[in-house]
Amino acid sequence: MDVRAPKGTVDMLPEVASAWEHMTRTAQTLFARYGYEPIYTPMFEHTEVFERGIGEATDIVSKEMYTFEDKGGRMITLRPEGTASVVRSALEHNLVQQGSSAKLYYAGPMFRYERPQKGRQRQFWQIGIECLGAADPSVDAEVITVLWRFFETIGIPAASMRLLINSMGDEHCRPAYRDKVAAHIREHSAGLCEECNRRADTNPLRAFDCKNPACATIMATAPLLRDELCDECAAHYAAVKVRLDMLGIPYIEEPKLVRGLDYYTRTVFEVQADAGLGSQNAIGGGGRYDRLFEEYGGKPTPGLGFALGFERTLLCMEAAGVQVPALPRSQVYVARVSDDVAEEVFGITQALRDAGVAAEMDHQSRSLKSQFKQADRLGAQFVVICGPEELACGEATVRNMGTKEESRVAVADLSAALRDLLV
Ligand code: HAM
Repeated sequence: MDVRAPKGTVDMLPEVASAWEHMTRTAQTLFARYGYEPIYTPMFEHTEVFERGIGEATDIVSKEMYTFEDKGGRMITLRPEGTASVVRSALEHNLVQQGSSAKLYYAGPMFRYERPQKGRQRQFWQIGIECLGAADPSVDAEVITVLWRFFETIGIPAASMRLLINSMGDEHCRPAYRDKVAAHIREHSAGLCEECNRRADTNPLRAFDCKNPACATIMATAPLLRDELCDECAAHYAAVKVRLDMLGIPYIEEPKLVRGLDYYTRTVFEVQADAGLGSQNAIGGGGRYDRLFEEYGGKPTPGLGFALGFERTLLCMEAAGVQVPALPRSQVYVARVSDDVAEEVFGITQALRDAGVAAEMDHQSRSLKSQFKQADRLGAQFVVICGPEELACGEATVRNMGTKEESRVAVADLSAALRDLLV
């Protein structure tokens, strides 16, 4: 049997898994300050949820989804992102009642059949938030701020990131703009790749995302939506910027930022970083999707959010020299002088754990010297040395591994004494 994980997936070994836990804890603390609550949706959905939500002409839906028929004949897709599922769930459970809003966050694996490279996997991990029911530009500014503050809090220097923002317009101004971009593509048809030519009919704005240098040059002269926004979209965009300015969030306007998902309306944004990343430099991104509920048959309900990528964020943290706090290790090691006290040692270790102390013992009949070495490796601050004579008197020796001081403590008082010492 091949013991390697499937292509494009990685095992999160303890060091990386503890970085994930550190990141999710940091996110939870920050998101709670902004009123976000957790939501966990299934890792797979009916395929239609993503087809309708993300859009059939996107790369994600047309090329990257893990789709299969289950044994009941249903078309199922492993989620390539979280937004479509959260909106589907909000509709199913009526989470956004008239006039109210729901602030939700999630964290977990997503699946896209992409060509694996640094910062790009087929199973990758995202942390995201979705704010459903609020149309005010203050929410756009708030959501963008949460993303920026997350990266700052996790230790990525502001100078090594850039925040790009744009407005995608809405159903009033985008159709005419789409037609203008399609006309631009047709006008320059000969210089554009086959796929961009196809995009003129299916989804012209996707041509802005094409990595082909010749296409990028032609698209650089395409009309910009910024110049075609209707009054309402222009006012919304201006109000978002005023609020970001108030908070000193340093954004760059990027009129060609269209993002890879079709559900966006109005504000879109992306945080990019170069250090530690190759071409996969987007560490997080999001935007508004005011028409997505209707796409699923719901009432008009505005929404917006973001998702950040764990792997790329971790690469950035490493490049910035950020230390992930180590896993909580054993605080106390219970060592036995001889095998005849094994049962007592087992009982003492368990009692310490029940009292809330992180304690470890030897399970491999190590010598006392090796037990001390293991205590050092685990970072134990105290070792409880259990010898037959001391235990016969109802006592054990507590050694402070830092100062090397030793004292005799009654076994009955060990938990309380160590709890005090550890404080
Ligand atoms: P997205 O830009 O497709 O947006 O993904 C968000 C982040 O996930 C990216 O910035 C990147 O860090 C990470 N990511 C995406 N694909 C991969 C991959 N193959 N390997 C590693 N990391 C990856 C969304 O998913 C939207 N749902 C964001 C959103 C939420 N918009 C509104 N609400």
